[in-house]
Amino acid sequence: MTGLFNRIAHRYDGIVGSFDLDEILKHLPLNEKTLFLDLGGGTGRVSYHLLSLVNECMIADLSFEMLEQAKKKTTEFMLLQANADNLPIKSNSIETIFLNDSLHHIRNQKETIAECYRILEKGGALYIREFNRKYFWNIFLILGEALLCFKSKFYSPKELQKACEDVGFEVSIITCRKGTFLMKASKIH
Ligand SMILES: C[S@@+](CC[C@H](N)C(=O)[O-])C[C@H]1O[C@@H](n2cnc3c(N)ncnc32)[C@H](O)[C@@H]1O
Repeated sequence: MTGLFNRIAHRYDGIVGSFDLDEILKHLPLNEKTLFLDLGGGTGRVSYHLLSLVNECMIADLSFEMLEQAKKKTTEFMLLQANADNLPIKSNSIETIFLNDSLHHIRNQKETIAECYRILEKGGALYIREFNRKYFWNIFLILGEALLCFKSKFYSPKELQKACEDVGFEVSIITCRKGTFLMKASKIH
């Protein structure tokens, strides 16, 4: 549903509001050598705060207008308009991939997880921060996104763990708060 993201891109940061930067910084192993991919990274509202901590920060997103907003923030992002399930990125080339609040918007989720496995280098990791569909009060979020015709598909932590393990990842759930969870999926081999 990138059409809707294209339409709201100029107001997106204001609509979604704040996020827990400290939690992200605490768990993502960023350093000045990291090639960091923010997949479904949209306007770069999260990545903007990570730029100074990594070597290169690439934002890949299907929505051109969302990427336009990222470009307005800084010229330091590498911007890539692409579908998450078919990325024009070499195999075994990325160290860290982050999906924040984006997997449930992506149509081909299993293909996207497999694509992340392909482009990650050995020893690299995929971090996914998502809303837990099993948490009761997320019903309002799920219904709200359905009303907006987003066609979102939410995983529970266990379901996402299985989907990642199915393509070869070794998985650990880093945090599982009431409504959200952060998962680390490592490419060991
Ligand atoms: C809710 S926004 C999250 C943006 C950003 N991660 C954040 O936390 O602000 C979801 C993003 O996923 C993108 N998206 C949806 N389907 C996609 C796909 N198939 N490939 C790449 N990006 C996609 C949308 O365009 C949108 O920018």
